[in-house]
Amino acid sequence: MVTAAHQHTAPGPEAPRTFPEGFLWGSATASYQIEGAAAEDGRTPSIWDTYARTPGRVRNGDTGDIATDHYHRWREDVALMADLGIGAYRFSLAWPRIQPTGRGPAAQKGLDFYRRLVDELLDKGIQPVATLYHWDLPQELEDAGGWPERATAERFAEYAALAADALGDRVKTWTTLNEPWCSAFLGYGSGVHAPGRTDPVDALRAAHHLNLAHGLAVRALRDRIPADARCSVTLNLHHLRPLTGDAADADAVRRIDALANRVFTGPMLRGAYPEDLLKDTAPLTDWSFVHDGDLREIHQPLDFLGVNYYTPTVVSRADGSGTHTSDGHGRSAHSPWPGADDVAFHQPPGETTAMGWAVDPSGLHELLGRLASDFPGLPLVITENGAAFDDYADPSGNVNDPARISYLRGHLAAVHQAIADGADVRGYFLWSLLDNFEWGYGYSKRFGAVYVDYPTGTRIPKASARWYSAVARTGVLPGA
Ligand code: FCB
Repeated sequence: MVTAAHQHTAPGPEAPRTFPEGFLWGSATASYQIEGAAAEDGRTPSIWDTYARTPGRVRNGDTGDIATDHYHRWREDVALMADLGIGAYRFSLAWPRIQPTGRGPAAQKGLDFYRRLVDELLDKGIQPVATLYHWDLPQELEDAGGWPERATAERFAEYAALAADALGDRVKTWTTLNEPWCSAFLGYGSGVHAPGRTDPVDALRAAHHLNLAHGLAVRALRDRIPADARCSVTLNLHHLRPLTGDAADADAVRRIDALANRVFTGPMLRGAYPEDLLKDTAPLTDWSFVHDGDLREIHQPLDFLGVNYYTPTVVSRADGSGTHTSDGHGRSAHSPWPGADDVAFHQPPGETTAMGWAVDPSGLHELLGRLASDFPGLPLVITENGAAFDDYADPSGNVNDPARISYLRGHLAAVHQAIADGADVRGYFLWSLLDNFEWGYGYSKRFGAVYVDYPTGTRIPKASARWYSAVARTGVLPGA
């Protein structure tokens, strides 16, 4: 039955879909994943350098020492984006390039690199979107205690001020943190990300200090950037589904929602930690690391929320055995979910990418709908979406990746549908511009629209890059 509520919805999946005027079409990368030049121009090791150099941490012993060599090939990479007609570029600043010891004055050469990059982007009509922190904490700050320590948040605000002073005249869109959930819970809980520590209370302390870092950095940015510049944060909100209709599974969803999502959206967007989160984790900590005034500091007005989405997460109530092998974030004997050892994670049915992540665009549609109703008036931007597949260059030098095109088509249709249903989604950034260092998986997973031949550094736009280019240029998702 067609009800009034359905009459305004967008056409079916087969028809072409036109995105709103001004919708931003972008691509995304992160400093450690692409730059290389790990010891150049005064850059010091970050926690990812240390972690990657520790045997057994990263697949094949891969490191970001050279990566895609973007530090030297940045001009070529900007030209590639210009050729593809991409309107915006989301990249991150390497804290250990800008402030090598994590404190004190800025390193001129580090700033110069980003100034040149931004000028080239602006020259080519590409909007720069700068993320302050995509996981490369200066090692010196980890040695002083890392994110479980409050001082790290204070250092972050000082670094944000240096970045804003140097680039605030040219960068109009800023993101404080990328996926603080990964920094806190994979970095200090399960240990599958740098720095590889495994203490559930440290993970919760890290989450709070990342929240605080975000709030302090927004204030530092706002004090320095023009009034029309935008501030945001990017979260990897988990779209959760219960395994069954049982009340116990609904409760598993509630608990993981608190630990994955509301631990950040609560303080950042509502000014409070969720009561149920504090109660669920009470056996571990009394949260006394949250000081008076912190929540006010964290709760800063934002111009948009960045949303990273790849796949949904299916959970159920389990027997408390404490093994977490299928939550999509890598295997570890330690849980990234403090106090939730009786929640089990399940592989959703159907097709998967090379990461083993289920392909499910309906999760993105539902997530955007939920955010639109939970946070009315807050614009949304998809700051990452994409897929890894086992791409290769054929003998004639072409990289044909139909599975990625199909993934992107499905997810863009879901975004379009969410907009038709009333969500205020302003843009979409494909992860990633280039194949790159995929954290614990090293170079074994290729997420790029552009193929990178690592031995030579040669870039080859894949079929998906050409496909995405046509969408970005026209603002129209073609019919299937
Ligand atoms: C996200 C990260 C990004 C990339 C993708 C695949 O969690 O933000 O750096 O690794 O996953």
